[in-house]
Amino acid sequence: MHTYKTQKDLELYLDSMRENGKNIALVPTMGGLHDGHLSLVDKAKSLAEIVIVSIFVNPTQFARGEDFDDYPNTFESDKLLLQSKNVDALFLPSKEEIYPHGTLSDYKVGAIGQILCGAFRPSHFDGVAQVVKRFFEIVKPNYAVFGEKDFQQLLIIQSLVKNLNLNLKIESMPTQREKDGLAMSTRNQYLSDLDRERAPHFYRVLCDVRDSILIENSLTDAKKDAIKRLSQNFEVEYLEVLDANNLTQIETKTKEIIIISAIRFGGTRLIDNVVFRRMNV
Ligand code: PAJ
Repeated sequence: MHTYKTQKDLELYLDSMRENGKNIALVPTMGGLHDGHLSLVDKAKSLAEIVIVSIFVNPTQFARGEDFDDYPNTFESDKLLLQSKNVDALFLPSKEEIYPHGTLSDYKVGAIGQILCGAFRPSHFDGVAQVVKRFFEIVKPNYAVFGEKDFQQLLIIQSLVKNLNLNLKIESMPTQREKDGLAMSTRNQYLSDLDRERAPHFYRVLCDVRDSILIENSLTDAKKDAIKRLSQNFEVEYLEVLDANNLTQIETKTKEIIIISAIRFGGTRLIDNVVFRRMNV
């Protein structure tokens, strides 16, 4: 696996690959890799001959007081995992390499970045879009792969590609989970043993909301009940039942539904979602 730290070196490599007619797939990450990230790598491998994984903890998507300074750094094991997956190149840029002209961004994600997680982390998605746009500029991939775990992020990146008319395809992979249902996340390692035992309750409640809606119970009641149950263990930031295509309110004919939520407990913030299809509308 090649490792590149500068745009220039990576571009030299990628240009030669393109000249040989190879397609390129990019998997952007912040490190702290787990099987969720690796499922994106597998997908990337199935799409293109050359797979690039980036590891960059992007300062512009963290607000003051968030975990930027303590974000888990497991670089040595990340590297071994990527080697074991036969990743072609690892891109490890510095902040100066990504933001040579400073961190001011000219791209604003708009309304979809202000709701749900965006309401609690106001500049977060502008930072995500800024860094992903920059990675697309550097790598010029044919494909980029993202996880459905960060569903709002995925929709924002899809709209970025559309708004800027970029010539690449966004692919996604379902959320990978631990055996007990907890969505894999780099931040799970912040949980104490006791909180780790409690955490799977989050996903169970989201599944119960889905099951309740599928047997045609009232959506409002299902949501209210879920918030009540979650609040017994966690601080609920939000729990919404929305149209999975655009995160807008559900109408009677909406088929693809997402139950999407963020909770806090023991100093950790977790997000998760369940997407499903209503057949009988
Ligand atoms: P990070 O949290 O490292 O996640 C990198 C990618 O892995 C994202 O596309 C995310 O959705 C996906 N992912 C995380 N957990 C997953 C799981 N359990 N199952 C499937 N996919 C999972 O998301 C970011 O980094 C950053 O915001 C980034 C896009 C790299 C921009 O800085």
